[in-house]
Amino acid sequence: MDAEGATDTQTAPLKAGDVVDGWRIEEKLHTGGMAHLWRVSAVAGEVGGEARGEGAPLLPPGTEGLPLIMKVPRIKGGEDPASIVGFEVERMILPALQGPHVPRYVARGDFTRTPYIVMERIDGVSLRPRLDEAPLAIDEVIEIGSRVATALHELHRQHLVHLDIKPSNILQRPDGTVVLVDFGLSRHDRLPDLLEEEFALPMGTGPYMSPEQVQYVRNDPRSDLFALGVILYHFATGERPFGAPDSVRGLRRRLYVDPVPPRAIRRDCPPWLQEVILKCLEVKPERRWQSAAQLALALQDPHQVPLTARAERLQGSGALLRFKRWFFAIGSEPAQRPRLGVATQLMKSPIVMAAVDVDNAAPALLEQLRETVRRIMVTEPGARLACVSVMKTARIGMDELVDEQGRSVHVRQLVGLKHWARPISRELDLDDGRLTFHVLEAPDVAGAIVEFAERNQADHIVMGARGNSAMRRYLGSVSSQVVAQAECTVTVVRA
Ligand SMILES: Nc1ncnc2c1ncn2[C@@H]1O[C@H](COP(=O)(O)OP(=O)(O)O)[C@@H](O)[C@H]1O
Ligand SMILES: [Mg+2]
Repeated sequence: MDAEGATDTQTAPLKAGDVVDGWRIEEKLHTGGMAHLWRVSAVAGEVGGEARGEGAPLLPPGTEGLPLIMKVPRIKGGEDPASIVGFEVERMILPALQGPHVPRYVARGDFTRTPYIVMERIDGVSLRPRLDEAPLAIDEVIEIGSRVATALHELHRQHLVHLDIKPSNILQRPDGTVVLVDFGLSRHDRLPDLLEEEFALPMGTGPYMSPEQVQYVRNDPRSDLFALGVILYHFATGERPFGAPDSVRGLRRRLYVDPVPPRAIRRDCPPWLQEVILKCLEVKPERRWQSAAQLALALQDPHQVPLTARAERLQGSGALLRFKRWFFAIGSEPAQRPRLGVATQLMKSPIVMAAVDVDNAAPALLEQLRETVRRIMVTEPGARLACVSVMKTARIGMDELVDEQGRSVHVRQLVGLKHWARPISRELDLDDGRLTFHVLEAPDVAGAIVEFAERNQADHIVMGARGNSAMRRYLGSVSSQVVAQAECTVTVVRA
């Protein structure tokens, strides 16, 4: 895809100073295989792209003053249908996405005139240059993983599987927030999949492609967790877990060959981090983390990561196992496509948060709360449960942190929480890491519950109402404040 002989669709290639649909072309920022990226600005009084002639304002509301970038596909005389379709896919998907983890969409033009997408320009570099610095400090690997997983979960929630997660498509805002770009291979649950309809080749980037992507599956959000696992492996060890194959045959090796465990390359990689990374890289999606939020939570709270044989493994798969897997991988394509959509898959592995006031709630309420949580967990076999108790602390650090018997209040609450949850964890066998305990210390109990739910992307909060009305009048109702402020579903239980 070199420049020589390339005829772009524009009759004349763009150059600085041109004006297209009211966008002034300023400076070329990037030349890629598939696209050029230009810094652009809106010319006063003109209207950009599709909005033109429809009486629409110059810029969509709230985008005035936003630094802008224009992505222009780079298509040579019709010989590369994949890049044309890829552009169409991105042009369709970007306007459907929102929030801090994607560039804000501004305008677009199509192939009948000039194809382009104008979007917010993120002021920051991609993770691509960091590959050359790998292995990175362990703390940095963890930080990157947690930020990318958080962004991924947000996109999965918006019905999107990215399918091309790799360092060059991951940007960071100056405050560290991760922004994902390049939706040319993505699949949106509620939009037609142009790529599935038109191509019969696995699509993605060799080193990062998940086994199911190699087998043409395009609607499993856990494919993005595999790609993130590849990135974390590379950042942690300085090596690629599956090399950089460029043939379908090479790609298929990952269906039956396990990567060398990170600790065999880097001994100071903690076992829990190896567990987290290898769990991302499992061949079967069912054996990976079940959602990006669960992965983010694991990276933020390492001591709660359940360690399996994966944590200590120092060798890849043996020859016999490899042969068996190879044998069974033959003829297994195309794999059965999961019938579930992205959103459904996520809904099957929600995070349920139980806010339990172990110290003060009446026994009947605790019982009732447990029964409610139990019923929810029974109906959602993939769900994980985070049990949270908040220690109310005063603003000035003068609180009693030990009780009358000299025990730490924090530890006492933790023990209380575990005790409360034991019947559920026994019945549902939640000891495989789907159950975690958190004692928070905060002056504002409701605020702490809401913040925890948001930070961990909880789908459902279950909590008790304060029964005693005198107490409620005196202290205010924590549950009504949570109901008012939380973004997720809240169930308030009364004794
Ligand atoms: N909105 C944006 N703001 C800033 N930089 C961007 C933006 N979108 C893309 N880039 C930069 O341009 C590069 C190429 O963009 P991308 O959309 O990934 O195109 P390609 O299809 O060529 O990979 C990215 O790796 C990133 O560094
Ligand atoms: Mg890219």
